[in-house]
Amino acid sequence: MSSKLIIALDYPTAEQALSFVENLSPEICKLKVGFELFVASGPDFVKQLVDQGYDVFLDLKFHDIPNTVASACRSASNLGVWMMNVHASGGDNMMRAAKQALLDMRSPAKLIAVTVLTSMDKEQLEMSNVMLSPQDQVKSLAQITKESLLDGVVCSAQEAKMLREQLGKEFLLVTPGIRPKGAEIGDQSRVMTPSDANGAGVSYIVVGRPITQSDNPLAVIDSINIDLS
Ligand code: C5P
Repeated sequence: MSSKLIIALDYPTAEQALSFVENLSPEICKLKVGFELFVASGPDFVKQLVDQGYDVFLDLKFHDIPNTVASACRSASNLGVWMMNVHASGGDNMMRAAKQALLDMRSPAKLIAVTVLTSMDKEQLEMSNVMLSPQDQVKSLAQITKESLLDGVVCSAQEAKMLREQLGKEFLLVTPGIRPKGAEIGDQSRVMTPSDANGAGVSYIVVGRPITQSDNPLAVIDSINIDLS
């Protein structure tokens, strides 16, 4: 069975990321490439990971007019990535256009949406004239995401149980903010352990520093995979 663990490759250079990846294998984890690494290393680096057999989640959170986002998704799909994402606040026309662009490709990547950034609290939302609580706004955008036929959302593990009940068992819930017992919390605030997240019904967890900054990354990966099984 393929792993539910996605490792966030938050490195500034391809060299550093590749030297970490050298010790891994596609059977034990998937990989996430975000802004920092993509801007520094570019599409060829992403292709390199894909060619090594990894499921790659390209975390670039597209948010633009429907035609532009659809084209960006097409370009990302050409790299052979497994999953990519957009901002749900870009609207249902944007999400539908992106999904359709992918369905027109030979092997469509999964498409998920970011609902409310975890850095946005009630006050920040109100400043953008969103009067719903962050939780209700997450629910509302997740519903629009599902109706736009996307595969799932990025969400916090705290929201997972509620969204699983609301959106059914096929909808993907991809969850960062995960910390194994005893790990440094760092700048994350409301964290959950891998096994609690698994119990809450998440589909995949995203873990960065507890693995990339560990003295023994393989041991941490093994123990997380056991927690997720
Ligand atoms: O190192 P850590 O496990 O905190 O990394 C989590 C990863 O998930 C980072 O790449 C971060 O950008 C991403 N992420 C997050 N919270 C969100 C969305 C994405 O931590 N709400």
